[in-house]
Amino acid sequence: MPYDVLTSQRFPDDVVAPFAGRLTIDQGPPGGLLPYDELVARAASCKGLLPTSIDRVDDALLAHAPELKVIANVGVGYNHIDVAAATRRGIWVTNTPGVLADTVADMAMTLLLAVLRRIGEASEHVRHGHWIANRQDTFWGVDPRGLTLGLLGFGAIGQGVAKRAAPFGMRIIYYRRTRLPQDQEQALGAAYVTFDELIGESDVLSLHLPLTDESRGRIGRAEFARMKPGSYLINTARGPIVDEDALQEALQSGQLAGAGLDVTATEPEVPVALREHPRALIVPHIASATRGTRGGMMRMALENALAVLEGRTPPPNAVNQV
Ligand code: DGY
Repeated sequence: MPYDVLTSQRFPDDVVAPFAGRLTIDQGPPGGLLPYDELVARAASCKGLLPTSIDRVDDALLAHAPELKVIANVGVGYNHIDVAAATRRGIWVTNTPGVLADTVADMAMTLLLAVLRRIGEASEHVRHGHWIANRQDTFWGVDPRGLTLGLLGFGAIGQGVAKRAAPFGMRIIYYRRTRLPQDQEQALGAAYVTFDELIGESDVLSLHLPLTDESRGRIGRAEFARMKPGSYLINTARGPIVDEDALQEALQSGQLAGAGLDVTATEPEVPVALREHPRALIVPHIASATRGTRGGMMRMALENALAVLEGRTPPPNAVNQV
């Protein structure tokens, strides 16, 4: 008997238990994701697909899944899904906004403080047995107090980072397409600037925008050249927003003093030069990875799928209209 929905990863039992009797769920393997070919094969007879941000959901997959009615993404970013093709085929696409904003903002702040204080380098130093004498002159970092934090993209996550950075004494500036009303800017203590001002004035530039045709490669050679010498980049958004060759050059030349990355352009592959750069602190796309938040995202995706399969459309977090 075909399953109602397919998840590309294994969901914890306590997440799926409340859906028993309402949905039959085929699941990916524990500790990994279904490879693309298997995702295509197993999605063929399902009505709902619950992918992650790493799974490619393209038109070829959709062409093999004639029963599909909903793609309930487990994540907020959906650049890996061909939404136009899904819409053409009458398939709803949903995401999981809000539930992960605080957790991702926590990670951005964690990376920010970690790169300013050179935590990655210092930890490697100890791990490799180089801590053989106590010295006062090593691993001097930078205080966040008085630095300017530039937020590119200022939705729930960017605003969450602003709230976290303000008590550290950082000046907050932001750029996004639509300026916030003044009372919201004041409440967040954030000043609106142009894109060029953001690039030129930030000591730390943190990215919080979706990956689109417009944002792909938005931070490249020209932007790194215009950033303050010795500034920092934090990316918890999507890797391809940054031109990674330009990033490596900027780290190499010292134009960037450090980069804290949760995402990279061709993840999970990371170019060796970047992976091994002492001032690049890279974690494997785990910004939303806490027990509460990942469980919440999975639950939300299941609710979205169930809504469509029970005919309650539009589903709560639709990103298209069919
Ligand atoms: C998102 O929600 O887009 C995250 O990147 C998923 O981990």
